[in-house]
Amino acid sequence: MKENFDAAAYVAARQQMINDALAAEMDKATQASPPGQGTERLLAAMRYSLLAGGKRLRPLLFLAAVESLGQKREEELAGYLPFACGLEMLHTYSLIHDDLPAMDDDDLRRGRPSCHKAFDEATAILAGDGLLTHCFCCLLSTPGSSAVQVLQAAQYFAWKAGLGGMVSGQALDLAAEGQPLELAELRKIHASKTGALLEAAVVCGGRLVGSAGPQRQALQEFGRQFGIAFQITDDILDVVGDESKLGKPVGSDAANGKVTYVSLLGLAGAQAAADKAMTAARNALQPLGEQGRLLSALADYFCRRDN
Ligand code: IPE
Ligand code: IPE
Ligand code: MG
Ligand code: MG
Ligand code: MG
Repeated sequence: MKENFDAAAYVAARQQMINDALAAEMDKATQASPPGQGTERLLAAMRYSLLAGGKRLRPLLFLAAVESLGQKREEELAGYLPFACGLEMLHTYSLIHDDLPAMDDDDLRRGRPSCHKAFDEATAILAGDGLLTHCFCCLLSTPGSSAVQVLQAAQYFAWKAGLGGMVSGQALDLAAEGQPLELAELRKIHASKTGALLEAAVVCGGRLVGSAGPQRQALQEFGRQFGIAFQITDDILDVVGDESKLGKPVGSDAANGKVTYVSLLGLAGAQAAADKAMTAARNALQPLGEQGRLLSALADYFCRRDN
C-alpha cells in the first residue's frame, strides 16, 4: 500500500468494479431464466434492490483481503469477483427482508422506496429468495482459487449468513423488540446480525488465498470488532443521521422499540463503544503488519461515514 493512499479513490474504483460485475451477473442470470411475466417481475425486483447503489462494503473488504494477503495485482481480482458478487447478493437479500412490514417495516432503502413498496410484498420476498440462492451460484463459480478452497469458503459463509450469524441475529433482534436488554445481549445480537457477514467477508477473502492459523485469527478478530463498530454507528445514524444521505429512514429503531447502543448508553456512550471496537479492530490487524494496512484504512474510512 502506497504512503499517500487515497481511500476515497480506492473505494470508488473498487465500487465501480463490483457494480459492473453485479450488473453483468444479473444480465447472465436474466438470459438463463425461464421467460415469462412472473420471472420478469422477479428479476426486475432483484435488479432494483441490488443495483441501487449501497456502499458495497462486504465485497470491498473481501477483495481487500484477497489483494493484500494474496498479494494480487488488480487484474487478478477478476478471478474473485463472482465471490464478491455473491456476498453483495446475500447482503441485499437481508436488507429486502429486513424492511418488510413483518420485520422493521421501513419504506425507504438505498435512497428509493423499499423493494416491497416499489413492487409488492410477495415479490420482495421472492426477490430476497432469488438473491439468497443465486449468491451460492456465484460463490461456487469463483475461478481464482482451487475448488476445495472455494467450497470451504462458501460453506463457512453459508454458516455465518444463516444459523451461525445473520439469520439467527435477525431472529434475536426481532424477539428482543420491546424487551429490556443487557449490553452483553445487545452486543451478541449485533455480532450476529451484522458482524457475522462482515467477518465472513474478510475471512473468506483470506481463505481463498490460503491464509490460515494466526493470519485467519487476525482477520476474524478484525471482522468481528469492525462489525460491532459498524452496527453501533448504524444505530447512531438512526438517531442523528440525515435521511437524504442515509437513504433509509431515521428513527426506525425507536419506532420499533429496539434496544440499541444509543438507547442503553446515550449518544456519547455509544460513540465511545464504537471507538473502542474500532481500536480493537485496528489492533487485531497488527500481527499482519504491512498486509493489514489496506483493511485498516478501509475500516477507518467507513467508520467515519454519514450513510
Ligand atoms: C445496512 O448495511 C444494514 C446493516 C447491517 C447495518 P449497509 O450500511 O452496509 O448498507 P448498504 O449496503 O450500504 O446499503
Ligand atoms: C440490520 O440491522 C441488519 C441486517 C441483517 C439487515 P438494521 O435493521 O439496523 O439495518 P438497517 O438500519 O435497517 O439498515
Ligand atoms: Mg433490522
Ligand atoms: Mg432495519
Ligand atoms: Mg439500523
